Amino acid sequence: MREQPPNIRTATQEDVPAIAAIVLELGWFSSVNEPHIRRQLDMCNADKSHTLLVAENNHGKVCGYIAVHWLPYLILPGSEGFVSEMFVLKNERQRGYGRALIEAVKELATEKGCVRLALLNSRNRPSYEREYYRRLGWTERPEMADFVYPLGIE
Ligand SMILES: CC(C)(COP(=O)(O)OP(=O)(O)OC[C@H]1O[C@@H](n2cnc3c(N)ncnc32)[C@H](O)[C@@H]1OP(=O)(O)O)[C@@H](O)C(=O)NCCC(=O)NCCS
Repeated sequence: MREQPPNIRTATQEDVPAIAAIVLELGWFSSVNEPHIRRQLDMCNADKSHTLLVAENNHGKVCGYIAVHWLPYLILPGSEGFVSEMFVLKNERQRGYGRALIEAVKELATEKGCVRLALLNSRNRPSYEREYYRRLGWTERPEMADFVYPLGIE
């Protein structure tokens, strides 16, 4: 039987354990735990500057999530949607959850009159090596340098 398209909806506090499981499975972010995700999700949902969406399978299981932050640049004719995180459970990859999450963000961005989406993708990740975003129509900006100013907390 053909699989239904993923259901995409806004994340709620009930999704915290599922989101934590997705992040912890990666093994990349040692400081992350459920209370931390609960606090950050509260901040995201407290105003309209952030959107956190989850993708569910046919059985209502959360398989992936995306976070986007709406940045009202003064120098652009419309806002930018900055995608800060997108992760899908290892066993659920290549089933269209990532694509569906990005499509949902594109729709929201269009509704908000945004001029573009942006994201950072580590060059060390398989998604970069396999040109995941390029294949979804994104363009890399080699002329831009990626700066951070560390504040002593990782
Ligand atoms: C990158 C990631 C979010 C993709 O999610 P996904 O649900 O597996 O992606 P999709 O199934 O929607 O894939 C969309 C398309 O890309 C292809 N694809 C899937 N995974 C891919 C990968 N790792 N590299 C390149 N292409 C990939 C699919 O075949 C699909 O193509 P198609 O629609 O033409 O068949 C997921 O692999 C992941 O969580 N990776 C680890 C974290 C990461 O790198 N996140 C990136 C943001 S920081």
